Amino acid sequence: MNQTIPKCRAVVVGLALLLASGLPGLAAAQKQDVAEGRSRAESGATKPCIECHEGSYAIAGTKHGVKGDPRTPEATAKGKSVTDDPGDAMCGACHGDLTAHNKTPRVAGLVPVSFGKKAPAEPQNEACLTCHQSAARITWQGSRHERAQQSCASCHRLHAARDPVTVAETQAAICFECHKDRRAEIYRMSTHPLKSGFIACSSCHAPHGSSSSRGSLIKDTVNETCYTCHAKMRGPFLWEHRSAQDDCSNCHNPHGSNNTPMLKVRMPYLCQQCHQDTGHPNSVFSGNQLAPAGAQNQRFVANSCANCHMKVHGSNHPSGAYLLR
Ligand code: HEC
Ligand code: HEC
Ligand code: HEC
Ligand code: HEC
Ligand code: HEC
Ligand code: HEC
Ligand code: HEC
Ligand code: HEC
Ligand code: HEC
Ligand code: HEC
Repeated sequence: MNQTIPKCRAVVVGLALLLASGLPGLAAAQKQDVAEGRSRAESGATKPCIECHEGSYAIAGTKHGVKGDPRTPEATAKGKSVTDDPGDAMCGACHGDLTAHNKTPRVAGLVPVSFGKKAPAEPQNEACLTCHQSAARITWQGSRHERAQQSCASCHRLHAARDPVTVAETQAAICFECHKDRRAEIYRMSTHPLKSGFIACSSCHAPHGSSSSRGSLIKDTVNETCYTCHAKMRGPFLWEHRSAQDDCSNCHNPHGSNNTPMLKVRMPYLCQQCHQDTGHPNSVFSGNQLAPAGAQNQRFVANSCANCHMKVHGSNHPSGAYLLR
């Protein structure tokens, strides 16, 4: 089926060009196409869609094909079949009125709503939103994906037995079709368990948009998003580390990094982005400030400030002011 589609298109385009230029004489194949289409149109003959689109019928086994649920395309389209075959009725709920297409299937452009990648997003999304304009989609309008002219079908595969974007193990692959830089990040040394599907992109991101100011996160801020799983980092702490309370992504790249644990920058540079020379080991490059003079303190292994400042996220120890305990 798939292989014949481009051929049909080419034939139709060729036909249109020939008619437009008024050239006499049509190739035999084109003549046959037109004749077949015309005779079908005149006779009003209707073939069941399944004869040409067998592969599309997997949708009957998904939630959209549940007969007992009065809200599904299957149920709402009852009696509206253009082929008299009740199994075909649901197709119109998303693709629009297919009477003309079914009469002359070989004529391109008669399917009112196509979900192809090149089709405009708006009519596609309208078709879905007639049923899915619920609270869950309230943030869709104005979301980054909506503004970037993405369609529901750029993520959803409704003719698959199981829509891969809704399954944790297969979701990331769909996102990577467009977000290729993110794929590289999750293969770095230190990452979230995304490859195994233990968590998904949608554990942190709201694919249909959200009220967060950036990144379309499931919560209003980066930190609130992280706390949904890393609750102990929320505190309250007797001694806070202001940068951790502000934004976890000051130090971590949640998609992955080659510095464990997902640190954006290697130690001690990570800390030195904010902490400059204060006259103690944090000025790592002026050896004479380390004791004994000229030699690194033994606890300064791997240049890690966190060897001493272990409570980088905040401390609850009465004398934890310097995040040392
Ligand atoms: C005789 C074969 C035939 C029959 C019967 C037929 N189609 Fe098609 N259909 C085609 C061909 C060929 C194309 C590709 C032409 C095009 O791109 O417009 C197509 C395209 C489509 C598309 C658009 C796919 C896309 O690119 O987005 C949909 C949806 C569709 N058909 C649904 C139906 C439905 C529903 C029925 C029954 C009411 C039906 N078809 C009956 C042959 C058929
Ligand atoms: C005629 C109404 C109707 C239309 C049109 C419709 N849907 Fe649905 N959809 C439903 C119903 C009903 C369910 C089942 C909801 C449930 O079980 O809570 C559903 C379920 C879904 C699900 C969840 C499937 C799952 O396995 O959990 C997705 C995703 C979805 N629809 C996307 C879409 C997209 C994308 C479109 C447009 C191409 C669309 N729907 C068009 C009624 C519709
Ligand atoms: C950027 C990718 C993406 C786009 C675009 C997208 N979705 Fe989804 N959708 C998802 C993911 C991922 C899930 C699973 C969400 C989860 O597990 O929280 C989902 C879940 C759903 C569900 C089932 C669960 C629910 O929230 O009710 C429906 C229905 C749905 N989407 C409809 C739509 C509609 C309608 C559109 C277009 C207006 C759309 N989606 C656009 C990625 C997307
Ligand atoms: C709930 C909405 C919905 C319903 C109902 C629906 N489709 Fe689709 N159709 C889509 C979407 C979305 C796509 C884009 C590809 C995908 O999601 O797998 C599509 C793509 C297609 C294509 C293009 C083939 C391809 O894979 O590129 C054909 C043909 C098609 N549908 C035929 C049908 C037929 C026949 C029926 C009825 C049995 C039907 N559709 C019912 C939403 C729907
Ligand atoms: C068909 C292409 C496409 C797919 C598939 C896709 N996206 Fe996007 N996404 C975009 C475009 C385009 C933008 C806006 C431009 C940009 O920032 O790159 C965007 C932006 C984003 C943003 C930034 C939002 C913001 O407010 O700054 C996030 C987060 C995102 N996508 C996550 C996802 C996730 C998660 C998935 C999979 C569930 C996904 N995307 C699937 C195309 C896509
Ligand atoms: C553990 C939480 C988490 C997970 C899981 C996650 N992200 Fe993100 N993502 C974030 C945060 C936080 C930001 C915002 C970073 C910022 O703005 O500084 C972000 C930003 C983004 C952006 C926008 C970046 C930009 O430059 O505007 C995209 C696109 C994105 N993520 C895609 C994905 C994809 C695709 C996946 C799945 C492979 C994924 N994310 C998994 C937390 C996560
Ligand atoms: C959906 C739950 C979830 C969310 C939300 C989440 N994480 Fe995680 N995080 C995990 C899991 C699961 C692990 C792996 C724990 C393990 O391996 O013991 C992890 C591990 C980590 C690690 C340690 C990695 C290592 O190599 O030891 C860091 C750092 C981290 N997360 C930061 C963040 C940040 C920053 C955010 C917010 C942007 C965030 N996480 C949001 C679930 C989550
Ligand atoms: C100032 C930099 C910085 C900020 C901001 C920061 N972290 Fe960390 N985080 C670190 C460092 C450094 C380590 C490694 C500590 C070590 O090696 O002892 C770490 C380790 C972790 C770990 C793994 C080890 C553990 O203790 O479980 C998780 C999970 C984590 N951070 C989550 C978060 C979350 C969630 C936030 C936001 C609330 C956050 N981090 C903010 C620097 C930071
Ligand atoms: C994004 C900037 C930033 C980064 C990165 C950062 N800090 Fe901080 N840190 C702060 C701020 C702001 C304060 C609060 C200073 C104040 O209140 O005067 C602080 C306070 C501290 C304090 C307590 C000092 C005091 O006077 O109360 C220690 C100790 C500390 N940081 C250690 C670290 C370590 C170790 C790292 C690396 C893991 C690090 N910081 C990374 C911004 C940062
Ligand atoms: C050998 C242990 C040790 C190491 C390694 C260490 N510190 Fe400290 N740090 C301390 C102690 C002890 C104090 C308390 C000093 C005091 O009592 O005056 C302190 C105090 C601080 C303070 C608060 C006092 C001030 O001067 O403002 C900051 C900020 C700080 N350290 C940052 C860092 C950074 C950044 C690094 C890594 C480059 C680092 N420390 C490495 C032991 C260490």
